Order: sequence, then structure tokens, then C-alpha cells
Amino acid sequence: MQLPRPMRGGLRKAAGFFCCVVVLYFVVQAILSEPSKPRMVSTQQKTIMGSDNKLYEYGRQMPLIFIGGVPRSGTTLMRAMLDAHPDVRCGQETRVIPRLLQLRFHWLKSEKESMRLEQAGITSDVLNSAIAAFTLEIIAKHGDPAPRLCNKDPLLIKMGSYVIDLFPNAKFIFMVRDGRATAHSIITRKVTITGFDLTSYRQCLKKWNSAVEAMNNQCREMGKNKCLRVPYEQLVLHPKEWMENVLNFLDIPWNDSVLHHEDFINNGISLSKVERSSDQVIKPVNLEALTKWVGNIPDDVVRDMAEIAPMLSVLGYDPYSNPPNYGKPDDQVAAKTKDIQRNKNVWDKKAKEMFSVGWDNAGDKDMDKDPSDNPNLT
Ligand SMILES: *[C@@H]1O[C@H](CO)[C@@H](O)[C@H](O)[C@H]1NC(C)=O
Repeated sequence: MQLPRPMRGGLRKAAGFFCCVVVLYFVVQAILSEPSKPRMVSTQQKTIMGSDNKLYEYGRQMPLIFIGGVPRSGTTLMRAMLDAHPDVRCGQETRVIPRLLQLRFHWLKSEKESMRLEQAGITSDVLNSAIAAFTLEIIAKHGDPAPRLCNKDPLLIKMGSYVIDLFPNAKFIFMVRDGRATAHSIITRKVTITGFDLTSYRQCLKKWNSAVEAMNNQCREMGKNKCLRVPYEQLVLHPKEWMENVLNFLDIPWNDSVLHHEDFINNGISLSKVERSSDQVIKPVNLEALTKWVGNIPDDVVRDMAEIAPMLSVLGYDPYSNPPNYGKPDDQVAAKTKDIQRNKNVWDKKAKEMFSVGWDNAGDKDMDKDPSDNPNLT
């Protein structure tokens, strides 16, 4: 079909105009994307060379894993099980990361100080990128690199929402345990934690209650996609089911190695000579620690349990059962527990050999304290 002359001319003009627009578009694009100005800070990811000669990238967008909970709630077991996975590296407690985050908390607590910092150009963005950089360097370099890096400074979860601000793709595993067992363990193993009075079950249970409540609130605030609550008792009774939950949540493919972490001690799992749980995680997952507390808590404290520690019921533990029925273990777990009991001497000897160094920090009580902690912090 022939178009009338005037219209053909119009078409030609339109085509010409269109070409101009396209050319202009590409010119502008080229100018905008030209890497002209030097950058002070590289936005590139940093890298570390692994012992496998592979280059590992690390940066704020990486899907970090954080394991949290009140000390003596199975955080070490969880990190040992994850450390046994070929793709994950957690390592020992860093101690300095929670301290740094606490420092920031103190800086910002005073309104006057916050204003001064802002005046000096130390905006929250500046502060956050500095804190994130410090945190990343420590996490990335205090152990071997791995596709998935993980941190276990148990009380860091009290600042969980802020950690997610720093690392938007990070996730938290929140370990909870029957507070009576936790208190018993803190007291009998003399785990010094700021704010816990090791001579009083009543006081320790109150402290457990407020700490676990604050953590639980943080976990809720972070949301289901960012924070998974794992009951220690269920992890121990049904390790396969719960590690499947955990690995699914973290988007990590299943590997059976997480079910026999004891085979990887000093060969993928580096244990601390000074962390209190080290002598326990050299053993396979077992039932020994579930009910040791029964019969050791003063009668008046047992009687008032529901008022002292209302979080017990919130987390699904019956405050009036001593002990509650946590459930029936998987066959494998029951068998391994029997085996450990039969060979008690062998395991005791093994623990002694591995941890001949004493727990005490040569009398430096402050250093001995669990640093990850300020129980008043929310
Ligand atoms: C599981 O991990 C081990 C090393 O711990 C590795 O040799 C094996 O290939 C892994 N299996 C799967 C299915 O990825």
C-alpha cells in the first residue's frame, strides 16, 4: 500500500528523530558509567586465599550465620555440628565482636554524645560501615575461609536486629534450653557471666528469664525468615530432624557429617581450650545433659518456679514438672548415650588429654567473664 506523500515525509522525520534519541541515549550512558572519579573505598568484595588455593570473597551482603542464646544452652553443640559440614566454618567465640557492638551501644545511649558524633560527621552510616568492616575481618579471618561463615558469640543475639542492619542477608540460630538445666550448668560449671550470681539458683533463674526474654523478643523482631529458634532438648533427642530444619533454614545442602561432629574434632572443628563446653562436644550427641539438674534446685525455688521464670512456659517447658517429659530419643541417640556411659573412663581420659590447660585466666577475673555479655543490654 502506498502512503500519500506528506505522510511518507513524516515517517522519515520520525525515523530520524528516533535515531537521534537512541544515539543520545548511548552517549549519556557512556558518560554516566565512565569510571572517572577515583574512589576512596573500593566497593569490591574482599577476598581471602584458602588452604585449598581457592579465593573466597567476603562482604556485607554475604549470608552470615549467627548462633545465639543464653550461655550453656547448646550453642557450642550447634556450632560444632555446623562446623562438621564441609561448607560451613564457625570457629571459636571471638569475644571482641560483642564488645565492639556494646561500645557502640554506649556511644549512642547518650543523646548529647550522639549529637556530637553526628556533628563530627560520624553518621550512623559511617559508624555502621566501620563496625561491619571490623566484624567481617574478625569473622572472615579467625579461621579457615569457607563458603558459609558463621559466628558463635552467644549473647550477640541480644543485638540481633542491629546485626541484621549491618548484614542484611545474615540469619540467626537461637538456641533455647530449659532454664533450670541452664542455671544448673552455669552454677556447677562456674561459668562467670556478668549479672549471674553463682551462689543462688533463684537469682540465676531470674537472670536467665530476663536474658532469654530479651533474646526471644529480638528473634521475633527479626522474623521467621531471619531467626530460627531451636530447642536444645529436641536437637539432642532428634538430631536428624532438627539439623534438617536448620540446614533448610540456612539454605545449605544436607550432609550426614553434621550428625557425627565428634569425628571432625581438630579436623575441621577447632575447639577452644578455654570455652567451658569443649569437653562436652568431643562426645557424640547424647542425653547426659538433659536432666542433671533434677533434684539439685532448692525446694523453695522449685515451688516458685512459675513466678521466677515465666519464660519456661512461654518456651514450652512445664515449670511444675521435675523433669518435664522432653520426649523419646531417636534410637541412634539412645544407643550412643549407652555407649558413652559404658565407656565413661575412656571419655573422661580423652577430655583430660585434650584440655590439660586449666579454665582459669591466671586470676584475671574480668577476662574470664563471658564478654559477649551485658545482661542489661537489650
Ligand atoms: C559430605 O561431606 C564430606 C566431608 O565432610 C564430603 O566428603 C562429602 O562429599 C559430602 N557429601 C555430600 C553429599 O555432599
